[in-house]
Amino acid sequence: MRILGIETSCDESGVCLIDASGMCGIDFKFDILGNALASQAALHAQYGGVFPNLAKREHAKALVPLLETALRDAGAASLRPHPATVPDLHTILMREPELQEQLEPFLKTYERPAIDAIAVTTGPGLEPALWVGINFARALAIAWDIPIVATNHMEGHIMLSIANETGLKPFEFPALALLISGGHTELVLMRAFGEYEIIGQTRDDAAGEAFDKVARLLGLPYPGGPEISRLAASARAHPRGDTSRIQLPRPMLREDNFDFSFSGLKTAVRRVVEAHQPLSNEMKLAIAREFEDAATEVIVSKTLRAAEHFCTPTIILGGGVSANTHIKDSFFAALQKDNLATLLTPPPALATDNALMIALAGYTHAVQKEFVEPHTLKAQGHVQLGLQR
Ligand code: KG4
Ligand code: ZN
Repeated sequence: MRILGIETSCDESGVCLIDASGMCGIDFKFDILGNALASQAALHAQYGGVFPNLAKREHAKALVPLLETALRDAGAASLRPHPATVPDLHTILMREPELQEQLEPFLKTYERPAIDAIAVTTGPGLEPALWVGINFARALAIAWDIPIVATNHMEGHIMLSIANETGLKPFEFPALALLISGGHTELVLMRAFGEYEIIGQTRDDAAGEAFDKVARLLGLPYPGGPEISRLAASARAHPRGDTSRIQLPRPMLREDNFDFSFSGLKTAVRRVVEAHQPLSNEMKLAIAREFEDAATEVIVSKTLRAAEHFCTPTIILGGGVSANTHIKDSFFAALQKDNLATLLTPPPALATDNALMIALAGYTHAVQKEFVEPHTLKAQGHVQLGLQR
């Protein structure tokens, strides 16, 4: 089955075509035929965070060129001998004029590609951004007569971590998934494919949000995670005695639950920053290091406690923050010591948002024929895993 994934939940626009077969757990195999991605991060960096309406417009501009690239890479972009007549898409695309302007000529120029289903992220995410992908998927579904599956963004992150280049990594259930991204921090118990129970989550800021906000306090650009990580690594390589006295709290570390809280940690960083004005370079490095240490300690120790409590032989890390080397290394070190569980992580280049993860997650539902009528699709900004349909 050839499935086209579309992702627009935050500030990455992605279109990906895969060819997949089998079912999760039974001979699941896939080939990536074309995978195109455009990041808006540099644009949002000027404002220090993602602006939903700016993200929406950029998605609308990016999707048709990305589709063209993905289809070309897949060898699936054939020009028509004569321009085709295109159904009236105005009602679907009236809120995305930049998209309509490009999509109509595209549909007139290219043959309908061999695609069996479209998977589009319908949540969670920024609703104005999600709507662009949804309306794009609806327009393609109508123009090409292809069924749609509504896809959960977080399930996409999980799929990417349990997949290797062509299928699934070997692992055992129950699995515990730690999803750490710009919008989410969740511990999810998976007893089987598609069965999710959220056993813990953040009570305030998401882990990635905390990295981004602390980076901003230190005058570093958005997205802050990779910047903090770079400074922290440099501070670890060259520790300075006078700055290593900085101590930040480990929120909720000892509480008897699987929830997280990061806003107090961010406030503690703000106090340190205010007390050390003007901030020296050494101090920036030291704060980045202590913040990353504090966030990592809480994340790793609460996840391991949950894995022990639920006797899970598998731990899955997913979401943009799972690109963080220090967090991954700390998990590997802790798990190796006691041979506690197998750790599954996403390929570093695909830890942040992309459309491959949506094509993979979408496939698992398309193969079960869980299609939805295009006009019933809607953005679900805060939908939880397992509750999409
Ligand atoms: O999953 P993602 O691409 O988007 C959401 O679904 O939110 O995650 C983006 C988040 C941002 O907050 C970014 O700062 C963080 O992932 N991030 C990192 C690293 N790379 C990306 N955080 C810590 N360390 C990193 N290396
Ligand atoms: Zn994400």
